[in-house]
Amino acid sequence: MKTAIVYYSYSGNTRKVAEILAEALKEKSSVDLIDLQALDESNSFLGQCRRAIVRKKGKIAPVKLDLSAFDLICFGTPVWAFGPAPAINAYLEQCTGLSGKEVILFTTYGSGAGKERCVNYMQDILSRKGTKSFKRFSIQQFKVKDRQLVLAEIEKGGISEKA
Ligand SMILES: Cc1cc2nc3c(=O)[nH]c(=O)nc-3n(C[C@H](O)[C@H](O)[C@H](O)COP(=O)(O)O)c2cc1C
Repeated sequence: MKTAIVYYSYSGNTRKVAEILAEALKEKSSVDLIDLQALDESNSFLGQCRRAIVRKKGKIAPVKLDLSAFDLICFGTPVWAFGPAPAINAYLEQCTGLSGKEVILFTTYGSGAGKERCVNYMQDILSRKGTKSFKRFSIQQFKVKDRQLVLAEIEKGGISEKA
């Protein structure tokens, strides 16, 4: 079994969750962590919100886009202005090889406003690429440092660590 975890993280929360998920899945799979690098992201909160709210596709550094070699593909993003961050929007648009694949979607968030809308938006795009099934979970930003809390949310999402 081969798993890819593709994520964007501006301030580290989503990266932390991606790493805990990777560790959990390693029991049953090899795991490639794909950390998206935004090339044109704003450094200001308002600038980031402005781009996210129009579902902007940001510029990302060259990265593996063909996911056909993986059985399970996970996508993680912070919730920005009720949606995904521009870097993950760009990746979702460009990636290939999703047909028939199992997908896990995850976010980290602050207040929780728009977290379902964010995941629904990602799920919609990926559905059009022929994915087979979705599991999803979200972690509040203050919980990401607590490994046990993150693992509990992963489990609540129906994601089992064992084969
Ligand atoms: C530009 C911006 C917009 C945000 N918008 C939302 C939002 O709409 N809803 C929410 O619950 N949290 C929102 N947050 C909080 C982030 O989702 C949260 O801090 C997240 O854990 C950051 O992840 P990261 O450290 O991986 O970048 C926003 C944060 C930023 C910087």
